Amino acid sequence: TDNILIDNFNREHTYLRISITEKCNLRCTYCMPAEGIPLSPKSHIMNYDEVFEIAKKFVDLGVTKIRITGGEPLVRKDVAIILRKLATLPVELSITTNGAIIDKFMDVFKECNIQKINISIDSLNETKFNQITRRKDFERVYKNIMLFTNDDFFKVKLNCVLMKDVNDDEINDFIEFTKHHKLNVRFIEFMPFNGNEWKLDQLVSLATIVETAQNHFGTSDIVRINDAPNDTSKNYQLKNAKGSFAIISTVTNPFCDSCNRIRLTANGKLKNCLFSGGEEDLLTAIRAGENIEKPIKIAIQSKKKMRGGMDSQKQFTTDELRLDNRSMIAIGG
Ligand code: GTP
Ligand code: 5AD
Ligand code: SF4
Repeated sequence: TDNILIDNFNREHTYLRISITEKCNLRCTYCMPAEGIPLSPKSHIMNYDEVFEIAKKFVDLGVTKIRITGGEPLVRKDVAIILRKLATLPVELSITTNGAIIDKFMDVFKECNIQKINISIDSLNETKFNQITRRKDFERVYKNIMLFTNDDFFKVKLNCVLMKDVNDDEINDFIEFTKHHKLNVRFIEFMPFNGNEWKLDQLVSLATIVETAQNHFGTSDIVRINDAPNDTSKNYQLKNAKGSFAIISTVTNPFCDSCNRIRLTANGKLKNCLFSGGEEDLLTAIRAGENIEKPIKIAIQSKKKMRGGMDSQKQFTTDELRLDNRSMIAIGG
């Protein structure tokens, strides 16, 4: 039968990322401008019934995994209602969060069988963490990471966006951290988005990260381990460590060939790629009582081969790069 989630490059989109809010309780420099972004009026944001209706449609079409993102998803007042509704669908549910208030949601996560929690932490140093996030929540985030990591129900991944001369001196500290804790630290290459003042010379590449680790721990102690299918990351482990680490290398080693992701923004627009300009307005269609299969099909069929059309690294890595895109805070990663 006709699977409308398969694109022109034979990629099947079984993973839906749903952003449920454009708001956040932190202000990370790589994610949003200091002054914030203009927020959509509340009436333009999907309500919980609409989130469920659209998600259900995707599940009917073949989606097997949903990740909830933001902004910070947990600042949305009705987040628990949304999670409970989505938990009734036959999908794997997961969430990406900054970790500042996850302690309050531990029971809801368990009730909804949300095991995979990805938490942002860009520095293990309090002063630096607070500088990057422009807030003072290091202790809360750190305590919460420990709380969830030490609970066997959860599988915790940490997201660390590396920026030269900001936190690249902590690569080995983060890897050392995986020795003692059962979690996966992911170093993420800094990516350009609207308003995040991305500079090519701030990029810390996969090659640099691996070399830094090998120089410190010894080449034979850094082992390349298996990646999950459709994984964004290349996975490694320090010998005898409880945890592992990985690198997400969109800039220098893109993984678009195996991309299975599609994104729904908080205002109900479908984005076929993290870097796509065009969006399909599913929310307006749903509100007009229209079948959304058609706009979904259009979105999937217009998906570009790589990074929204930026096939070469050179195209993607000029300081003058002006993206026809949103700020990261309004995409959700
Ligand atoms: P898993 O579901 O555990 O594989 O998580 P994830 O890595 O897909 O998601 P997460 O929300 O933790 O995002 C971590 C980083 O990966 C962020 O910088 C995201 O922007 C990036 N990322 C997530 N999905 C994609 C994708 O499809 N393409 C690219 N280029 N980057 C992605
Ligand atoms: N480049 C790379 N990763 C980013 N994230 C946010 N902004 C950027 C960026 N400019 C990551 C954060 C967060 C995830 C959802 O997206 O680490 O954990
Ligand atoms: Fe998929 Fe776009 Fe990310 Fe490539 S850049 S993996 S095509 S979402």
